[in-house]
Amino acid sequence: MALSLKKKEDEDEVKESEEEVIETSPLESIKDMYLKMIMKISPNPVKVMLPHGEVALKEDWDAGKGSQYTQIPEVDTEKVDVEEVTPVNEPFSYARIIYDKEASEYLYQVIEPELSEKEKDILELIKDTLRKTLSYDWEALSKVTKEEYLRNSVNAYLSSRNMKLDPISREKITYYIIRDFVGFGHVDALMNDDNVEDVSCDGVDVPLFIYHKKYESIKTDLRFEDEKVLNSFVIGLGQRCGKQISVSDPILDGTTVEGHRVQATYSREVTTRGSTFTIRRYKEKPFTPVDIIKFNTASPEMIAYLWLAVEHGESMIIAGGTASGKTATLNAIALFIPPGAKIVTMEDTREINLPHENWIPGTTRSGVGEKGADGKAAGEIDMYDLVRAALRQRPNYIIVGEVRGKETYTMFQAMATGHTTYSTMHADSVKSMVNRLENPPISTPRILLTALKNVLIQAQVRVGTTMVRRIKMLVEIVGFEAETNELITNTVYEWEQASDKFRFKGHSFLFDKIMTMKNMSHEEMQDEFQRRIDIINYMVREDITDFMELASIIVRYYKEPDIIVEEIREKMGIKRGGEMFA
Ligand SMILES: Nc1ncnc2c1ncn2[C@@H]1O[C@H](COP(=O)(O)OP(=O)(O)OP(=O)(O)O)[C@@H](O)[C@H]1O
Ligand SMILES: [Mg+2]
Repeated sequence: MALSLKKKEDEDEVKESEEEVIETSPLESIKDMYLKMIMKISPNPVKVMLPHGEVALKEDWDAGKGSQYTQIPEVDTEKVDVEEVTPVNEPFSYARIIYDKEASEYLYQVIEPELSEKEKDILELIKDTLRKTLSYDWEALSKVTKEEYLRNSVNAYLSSRNMKLDPISREKITYYIIRDFVGFGHVDALMNDDNVEDVSCDGVDVPLFIYHKKYESIKTDLRFEDEKVLNSFVIGLGQRCGKQISVSDPILDGTTVEGHRVQATYSREVTTRGSTFTIRRYKEKPFTPVDIIKFNTASPEMIAYLWLAVEHGESMIIAGGTASGKTATLNAIALFIPPGAKIVTMEDTREINLPHENWIPGTTRSGVGEKGADGKAAGEIDMYDLVRAALRQRPNYIIVGEVRGKETYTMFQAMATGHTTYSTMHADSVKSMVNRLENPPISTPRILLTALKNVLIQAQVRVGTTMVRRIKMLVEIVGFEAETNELITNTVYEWEQASDKFRFKGHSFLFDKIMTMKNMSHEEMQDEFQRRIDIINYMVREDITDFMELASIIVRYYKEPDIIVEEIREKMGIKRGGEMFA
């Protein structure tokens, strides 16, 4: 389909048509461009017919079968069911999930533009040239600038060699150039799919696996067949995290500039099937309390309860296993922090995202060279340093992404001196959490533990046939009995596996505390709690999952509680205290 045009005219026309047809689809603009070019070369107007194939194809594209760049092939066997097709980076990449009935497994297929042999050759030539010519300050450029630079480079390469390519081929080649030089190359489509939680590669010539929101851990049709390619991919991942991975330092643990968490091993040094990696995708928009309720990770009542706890400065630890959703719950609950409060967050990798203005986000950084006598490399700033620095900033709320070392002790001292702190921790019960807190390397004295008011135990559990996340228990730390050296706890909410429901266990010391503090009667407390429940239910009903929008309702509640409650109850048809109009 190559258009036989002189390159100069071609370029001029591209510019002109870009200005004129901003609102049209890529197909329309290409057609338009094609027409104009023909008109320009030919002194007399000519009729231009589009190739029949393209017209026919357009109908297919409209039916969701891909685009003019990428055609989604038909599944022509009875053995598989197509579960869904989703655009990932439209109009170039798509994801299709199929169910293989014989193997009883799902497969995630990545569908990208197909290249002809000629296009492949050109792509390789351009890549080679770019590898040689990209300047040292390439890494410092922004993503948008990089894409623009690459786009121009492709055009310049083709013009300088007087190569004639039709616009579709040019776009396809540019897609691959951008994918490989700015994106995540081979796994770029996976990294652009919001349904993908993580991507893992277990070695050479092994299918890549992903954790999919809906289908959980599933196989993909991607693999690194060539060991060298895989090794250089892993080195590239290291560079994205500002770290080096090599034979002498074969284990990598880092975060890319975009916030994705990377774990990798190099070559066959420590993992026998070759280099491996796991990338945990960063979630741009944090989960809100509404998401947590929609997942049934907590009930609206529990969220209302946590709201009261956060507002009244009750420190909390969210404990659970790996990937049980601790950080997501922490972030959701932190949205209840009153708007003017000063917040300092500390994390190893940037995950928490808050709408508050008075917020200082901090992250640790690794140093350079050998570790010194204190176990730290030159320039290293660890969690302990950050927690100590945070205390000098006089925050009202301190959030430590995850505690595991000596910073925990400092965090407990901060709690004991009146700061509210939130953190997550690896432990699956209150008992194992206390055990970890009291023993090295944390070694917090039991008496200090009572500064902690709430413990949430979250877990990934199986309900029916699916894996879900649930807050299994919401426990209050009530006090400490000196004679027996026992911590006294009270379970406020508990999750029942059989019914998949949450039960209020009958008593909350938080309610007692608020009633004493604010001189409220039992009924008034009940009423206040119900107001929060109504607001939460309203937000769930309206599906307010945007954290800024949700935060604005919370801010309004802090400013003018009566007005907003009345408004919401009217919209919901609620009279008072949860009673519905007949
Ligand atoms: N309540 C939830 N329901 C469904 N999916 C969730 C929920 N919470 C978190 N997730 C998903 O689970 C993954 C892990 O979440 P998150 O990072 O919060 O877990 P974590 O317990 O903090 O993990 P880690 O142990 O690595 O710190 C994320 O990809 C997130 O999208
Ligand atoms: Mg976490």
